[in-house]
Amino acid sequence: MKNTIIAPSVLAADFANLQRDIEMINTSEADWFHIDIMDGVFVPNISFGMPVLEAITKHAKKTIDVHLMIMDPDRYIKTFADLGANILSVHYEACTHLHRTLQAIKSEGMKAGVALNPHTSVDVLEDIINDIDLVCIMSVNPGFGGQSFIENTYSKVEKLKAIIIRKNASTVIEIDGGVTNKNAKQLVSAGADVLVAGSFVFKAENPTQTIADLKALTTI
Ligand code: DX5
Ligand code: ZN
Repeated sequence: MKNTIIAPSVLAADFANLQRDIEMINTSEADWFHIDIMDGVFVPNISFGMPVLEAITKHAKKTIDVHLMIMDPDRYIKTFADLGANILSVHYEACTHLHRTLQAIKSEGMKAGVALNPHTSVDVLEDIINDIDLVCIMSVNPGFGGQSFIENTYSKVEKLKAIIIRKNASTVIEIDGGVTNKNAKQLVSAGADVLVAGSFVFKAENPTQTIADLKALTTI
């Protein structure tokens, strides 16, 4: 049986009721907190930064999965470790020396992730896959919640899964952007291990139930 990890994206939470929304995730069937950090340079939007993450980690009782959409992320690796990140993902497109960056993340005691924009082929990770704990396949262009899912994602997941198996790596595959109950099952069948969901969870009438439904749908 496959137990898919569900990671609600805090970007879609109500920031005026952040503690309430964090407690909702704590008591739900969700597995991780997905935290989106945007710098207004790598992506055309600014989300939130260190003080907000500090406030989140004070209350969050589950794995903290941080997705950095920032240029030159090496500058902040230690800061995110100190703030309580358990997994730190950087964008392939934002790192000149990806291998060095991944080693730096691991040396701070975190799992190292690499996120890929929709236009970036999974093939670029072939020679470094054994050093990556998690690949985050962006199924929307990063920068905003609430966008529509890009259908080409399924074949990217299948291709990446084949590389992971061929290289005998233990990398997990995360999907981020536009995840709903319409595409969740097919993503898992294609090889996804972690599903990030922002709007689908937080805009729902009953977010706790929506998380439980996603979990049930993807336990196959
Ligand atoms: C997009 C972020 C996503 C976003 C997902 O740049 O990386 O994590 O919050 O939100 P939805 O699920 O609404 O597409
Ligand atoms: Zn994200």
